[in-house]
Amino acid sequence: DFIQEKKLDKQQKAIDHAMDFIKKKGEHSTKSRWYPVYHIAAPTGWINDPNGFCFFAGKYHLFYQYHPYSAQWGPMYWGHVISEDLVHWKNVRVALAPVDEYDKDGCFSGSAITKDGKLYLLYTGHVNLPLDEKTEVDRIESQCLAISYDGITFEKIARNPVIHCPKGDNIHKGHFRDPKMWQHDEHYYTVIGAQNSKERGQVLLFESTDLEQWTFKSIMASCSGNEGYMWECPNFVEVDGQEVFIFSPQGIEPEDKKFLNHHQSGYMLGKLDYESGIFHHGAFELLDYGFDFYAPQVIQAPDGRCIMIGWLAMWESEMPEQEDGWAGIMTIPRELHMENGKLKICPIQEMENLREQSRVYENIELYEADSLDGISGEFGELLTVMDLSGTETMQINLRCSSEEETVLSYDKRKQIFSLDRNCAGKGPKGQREIKIGLQNNCLKLRIFIDKSSIEIFLNDGEAVLSARIYPNKESSRIIFSPGGGKLRLTQVAFYSLSSS
Ligand code: FRU
Repeated sequence: DFIQEKKLDKQQKAIDHAMDFIKKKGEHSTKSRWYPVYHIAAPTGWINDPNGFCFFAGKYHLFYQYHPYSAQWGPMYWGHVISEDLVHWKNVRVALAPVDEYDKDGCFSGSAITKDGKLYLLYTGHVNLPLDEKTEVDRIESQCLAISYDGITFEKIARNPVIHCPKGDNIHKGHFRDPKMWQHDEHYYTVIGAQNSKERGQVLLFESTDLEQWTFKSIMASCSGNEGYMWECPNFVEVDGQEVFIFSPQGIEPEDKKFLNHHQSGYMLGKLDYESGIFHHGAFELLDYGFDFYAPQVIQAPDGRCIMIGWLAMWESEMPEQEDGWAGIMTIPRELHMENGKLKICPIQEMENLREQSRVYENIELYEADSLDGISGEFGELLTVMDLSGTETMQINLRCSSEEETVLSYDKRKQIFSLDRNCAGKGPKGQREIKIGLQNNCLKLRIFIDKSSIEIFLNDGEAVLSARIYPNKESSRIIFSPGGGKLRLTQVAFYSLSSS
């Protein structure tokens, strides 16, 4: 075991080095203008996908794709946060470093599972291959295991990688990543994102009894029509008895006003036949209708709730916080439910634990644009039920000053809700919309505002829109406008939120 010890040393040394660097730089990043107040972010450097979301030894753990050394994507480490209640998170020691032959260019995304009191991480070891004409692929991706007794220090096992890309006519040899495990009837399963030989997305299913030996079972589902060239970050979960396949396809073509983001994240409802390994499913639906939502990971909490966290950013998007030495945040945790055959997405109940001061009004009638005393903020939660019986449209301007604003609006005739960040401040622009009906002439909004983000939940989970925005600190007003006629705010509340 001398070799194994040397290996452990190598990774822990690399992590010690990263931790020293983070300590030096962290102060600067965390105090910068757009650093979130209550969202998960790295102390410094770049983050993307949430990884290894789990509950272990009484605490929630979330890891993330991490490049500590700059605010740009680079060789991936796994950063790590821990929480007791899913809303107060603390960054701890980096968990994985890309120091081994099989992961030398990145410890890519993966998942966690607990077994015999230990925490197992299955992740993708990524190796770049020189692009010359002879090699068919530009990379080797394989799945690797790391184990921890204390939930802080992880040791990669000696016989890594544990899963190689299966050979098969219809399986691309390069793209093979993001394992997400689950347990079913004494067996472990993992889905892995992949591509077929015609460069269309697909997902592969593997089976194991001990997490170390895995057998390839099937191509569980594959692209048909406009469903992308590569399926990243697959998840297979059961929500209120309904099996749901969640994934992040790259390369879906825009269809009218749908699929406008660089990549999408969505789901298909269906049923997995464990005999054949085939997932029979319905159509692809989006999980979020905003600009910035990718690579979500979903777990079943010990109390049975299905909880999802995504990356609140998007590949190729402008990220002005990079100037301040960091990039990327996670969404707030969201709970999934099935209701009348539809997937509903709501903020987890624990978000209410973050509420501090509040200002609450009832039955306010507006005939022109107005703001309300105490209903404003650079960060916090805005909750409102709007009765549109007396008006055709409404508008809410958020993070607003004389120079900038993020505009939400609703058109009753078209049943269109829209989010417009064209004048939101620095950074990316654009507009997104979703068709949604009123309930008894009312629209219910729960909006989570942080220093560089907004997440809008409509009608108790019917739709979510997430976006990064980069306004000035001073832009904190909220203005409500009826579009002619009368807008009745049956309820309106603003809560200041804090997670420190
Ligand atoms: C998704 C992704 C994954 C990969 C990781 C690399 O955003 O491209 O497929 O594992 O990011 O950081």
